[in-house]
Amino acid sequence: MLKQLEMRLASFNQHHVLRFWAELDLEQQQQLARQLERVDLELMAKLFQKTRETTDWSGLAKRANSPPSVTLANQAEPKLRREAIAVGEQALRAGKVGAILVAGGQGSRLGFEHPKGMFPIGPLSKRTLFRMLIDLLKARAAHHQTRIPLFVMTSPATDQATRLHFADELNFDLPSEDLRVFCQGTMPAVDAATGQLLLASPSELFLSPDGHGGMLQAFHESGCLNEARVRGIEYLFYCQVDNPIVQLCDPLVIGLHLRNQADVTTQAIRKSHPLQKVGNIVSVGDRLEVIEYSDLPEELAHERLPDGSLRIWAGNIAVHVFSLSFLEQAARNVTSTGSGLPFHVAKKKVPFVDEHGRLVQPATENAFKFERFIFDLLPMAKRAMVVEVDAAEGFAAVKNPDSSPTESPTTTQAAIMAQQIRWLKSAGVEVANGVRVEIHPSVAHDAETVRQHFTGSGPITKDSYFVRN
Ligand code: UTP
Repeated sequence: MLKQLEMRLASFNQHHVLRFWAELDLEQQQQLARQLERVDLELMAKLFQKTRETTDWSGLAKRANSPPSVTLANQAEPKLRREAIAVGEQALRAGKVGAILVAGGQGSRLGFEHPKGMFPIGPLSKRTLFRMLIDLLKARAAHHQTRIPLFVMTSPATDQATRLHFADELNFDLPSEDLRVFCQGTMPAVDAATGQLLLASPSELFLSPDGHGGMLQAFHESGCLNEARVRGIEYLFYCQVDNPIVQLCDPLVIGLHLRNQADVTTQAIRKSHPLQKVGNIVSVGDRLEVIEYSDLPEELAHERLPDGSLRIWAGNIAVHVFSLSFLEQAARNVTSTGSGLPFHVAKKKVPFVDEHGRLVQPATENAFKFERFIFDLLPMAKRAMVVEVDAAEGFAAVKNPDSSPTESPTTTQAAIMAQQIRWLKSAGVEVANGVRVEIHPSVAHDAETVRQHFTGSGPITKDSYFVRN
């Protein structure tokens, strides 16, 4: 078996990973051999080759137009809204909607020692991101007297801790048939100069999760896609674990998706400034594409239309509705770089074991990492639709630690409270300045249910967490 492995590695010039083989015990040897069996060496060679190619983002951005969109940010088109909500509610009631929550990221910027989903974010309740989102999902399901199965994606970096957390929390009281946890794949990192696989220890490759776009392959290969089909799910609402104010399974966006017979419907925010660090959703020909903020040339980011608005305005917040049939079709699509979505490359600092067995912490970017992005499903869709949402009503991601002025736990908590105070005030409830408020979704989960529950209530003069007993 070793001979075969050696030959396979040698033919791709990756033989160096067996350099410490003789010093490893049997278990370590087996571990390394198992890891290596799962690496597609041909794919790694192709991807390394691709790191030398450049994409003409500037050319693409010049050809790009603003995507056609429907706006939810104002009360325009009340009839369209009403009709779409009715259609979305019907799909929810009929049990045709499931939710996918991706939680496989390493959360390196936040620097939290557990999976990010375990971060306590509730401004007063200190509920974790997982609990906040699942409470919201349960409230949505109860409101529409339906069930919404939840598919949680983990990665080898978060899987065990996430499963233990769910077990400790008794699966947040979700019925067992409504919860599936599936694990995404990993990708090795390679030396940026040579394309050689990096070792994290003498007996282990350096592996990291293959990006949120790994969802497609993992959802398919874990059997979850098929299970969703068998259960009668037709639409999957996709969101990420770091955004606790996502309009989770919102009937309006689901209804718009259905009425448009879309493959994908994606929520976008109007960028608050040209260089905001969100992906840019654009339309090129008859397809939607996302240009990452780092790839959009600055002068193009600043371009404005005659009315003064940004030409490239649509910021990606990673909230999508997918038709199940579209995901099935995309999952079967095999390209030159394997099945699933394409890989993006990023040059990063990756610690590695050198030829003397010493762990090196590089001072500069030394390696290529490869990740898939979920937004690459957009250009694959024949019918893709953009729905504009007000950022204050749907996007407050936790990315950075509190030392950062943006996208930190503090800014997210402020956004949660500001939203709920806005809902209360529009229901006619007085809220004293500086008071901290949190509403558990079982009490009310959106502006309308806040209006139903709180109209006529007295002023809120002290910090208050509203929760059902
Ligand atoms: P980010 O790209 O912001 O990554 O993920 P992250 O892991 O949360 O944080 P950094 O970049 O290491 O600081 C956005 C969402 O996609 C999920 C994350 O869990 C988060 O919900 N994700 C990311 C995955 O599920 N898998 C991945 O491989 C990467």
